[in-house]
Amino acid sequence: MSLRTMKVVAAFAGAAVLLGGLGACSSERTEEPMAEPTVDAGETAAPEEVAAGGLIGIAMPTKSLERWNRDGSHLEGLLQEAGYETTLQYADNKVDQQITQLQNMINQDVDILVVASIDGTALGPVLADAASKDIKVIAYDRLINGTEDVDYYATFDNYEVGQLQGTFIEEQLGLADGAGPFNLEPFAGSPDDNNAKFFFSGAWDILLPYVESGQLVVPSGKSPASNEDWASIGIQGWTSETAQSEMQNRLNSFYSGEAKVDVVLSPNDSLALGIAQALEGSGYVVGEDWPLLTGQDGDQANVNNMIAGKQSMTVWKDTRTLAAQVATMVDQIVKGEPVEVNDEETYDNGIKVVPTYLIPPKVVTPDTIVVDLIDSGFYAEGDLDL
Ligand code: BGC
Repeated sequence: MSLRTMKVVAAFAGAAVLLGGLGACSSERTEEPMAEPTVDAGETAAPEEVAAGGLIGIAMPTKSLERWNRDGSHLEGLLQEAGYETTLQYADNKVDQQITQLQNMINQDVDILVVASIDGTALGPVLADAASKDIKVIAYDRLINGTEDVDYYATFDNYEVGQLQGTFIEEQLGLADGAGPFNLEPFAGSPDDNNAKFFFSGAWDILLPYVESGQLVVPSGKSPASNEDWASIGIQGWTSETAQSEMQNRLNSFYSGEAKVDVVLSPNDSLALGIAQALEGSGYVVGEDWPLLTGQDGDQANVNNMIAGKQSMTVWKDTRTLAAQVATMVDQIVKGEPVEVNDEETYDNGIKVVPTYLIPPKVVTPDTIVVDLIDSGFYAEGDLDL
């Protein structure tokens, strides 16, 4: 805990009450059951410490993707309700901009940094500076690699996201019953995002055996021979535009004549939007030859595409749940309490295994939009083209 927090500890008697409410507030906002937490034994409570408001720096990658706006505003809202001050910055997907923002937050004497990184390998020096000032760092959604100076990680189970997409394709096509061959075009996420390889591996562990058996055929040849080759089909920056032009190129070059694509593995919704546009541009028609198309996030435009039949599923990540978990972590760190984690094996950042809290993601299909996304209050009915 920084000096700044220690100084305000005595001054904020009322904040203790507010912070006490954070647990209740978090669980009220948690629609999905969370995995049973274990406790990171590294931190123990100092009895004389009373939690108090502090300044929390929140660094988000970009405003251009819908989910990060929700992540940022949910987390900021929860922390402010709990009596913290916050500084929330978005970095336009520019690594240097994010580093400058983090440096400014450190100079402002924040107590804790919550960072959803753009390039998970680029933050070592700035986080070393944070560590020298005793500022704790929580990696938000994306792991920060190659540094000692990241204390905790909270995310959705990234491998499970890919497994859900792979299983959906397997079931919809009847692959386990021997159906096929089907034409598949696989995509992967941004090569600089640590999550992207987990998403791909989760899906490819299910789909690659069917590629090898010939039930899935990849006409473009963009079919990684193993999980390690995932970045060869990665879309830098997760942009819809790059995904659209890549899909357009594949369709133009490998699908002349009668050949049709039957299924597209898209790791997330921003890519799925671009892929759907390319399909539309090439004359694919919903209800006739539109392929299966996966996604992730439950972004509004994609849910509307699901309603319109242009996307088959999304792996929904209820950002309220992640924000609530991170707000709880912040509170536990400030109070000097044990910090809840439930995975101390998976997320090795090259220097250490970062204690992690993993939240289960959930498949949403056109049939479950109302029950999952509207009844839970994630969207209002008027937000969607129902
Ligand atoms: C997140 C995804 C998101 C992607 C693009 C990943 O790190 O986990 O939810 O779709 O970044 O922003």
